[in-house]
Amino acid sequence: MEVYQAVTTLLAVREFQKKPVSETLVNKIIESARLTGSSMNLQPWHFILIRNRGTLVKIGELVTSGKYTAQANFAIAVATEKSSQFAISDASRAIQSMMLTAWSEGVGSNWTGWVGMTKVANLLGIPKNLDVIAVVPFGYPKKIHTKGIKNRKSLKEIVHAEEFGKSLS
Ligand SMILES: Cc1cc2nc3c(=O)[nH]c(=O)nc-3n(C[C@H](O)[C@H](O)[C@H](O)COP(=O)(O)O)c2cc1C
Repeated sequence: MEVYQAVTTLLAVREFQKKPVSETLVNKIIESARLTGSSMNLQPWHFILIRNRGTLVKIGELVTSGKYTAQANFAIAVATEKSSQFAISDASRAIQSMMLTAWSEGVGSNWTGWVGMTKVANLLGIPKNLDVIAVVPFGYPKKIHTKGIKNRKSLKEIVHAEEFGKSLS
């Protein structure tokens, strides 16, 4: 899948098939995070690969907005260095890299949770200097509720030509 196609079709996937994701693809997804650019190339991030079903189920209980992680083939918890003011931007880029890489190979995913997931951090043995900002479950999509249709603001609402408030012709 070419980049633009992946970007424009990527959707949040919240239901997964049991079909396993290959080791090769899991590694490719992780590599896409590792190779993502970060501010001053500081790479203030850690990625915890979770494949153990018991752990996935526990995370599904802890992250109430992402209960479906329990059914994912695997998940990646993303932890950032609390001392870095750029860490959320950096890690968000890495998350998007992983989601697009997975999607381009037919694997769905979604961002779940938000900063301060201390219970997840404790479960995964993550040191106190790091903050868990997301858990990203992955798997082959069961079905896509939105049928590929994106619900987004119109160009007019968010894009300005030269000056704020001037619409593109
Ligand atoms: C920072 C961030 C946090 C999110 N948290 C959750 C979450 O906790 N649970 C969830 O199901 N989706 C979460 N999402 C996914 C959004 O709901 C999703 O990207 C948005 O609704 C657009 O979905 P679509 O691309 O399928 O249209 C999050 C997305 C972002 C960027």
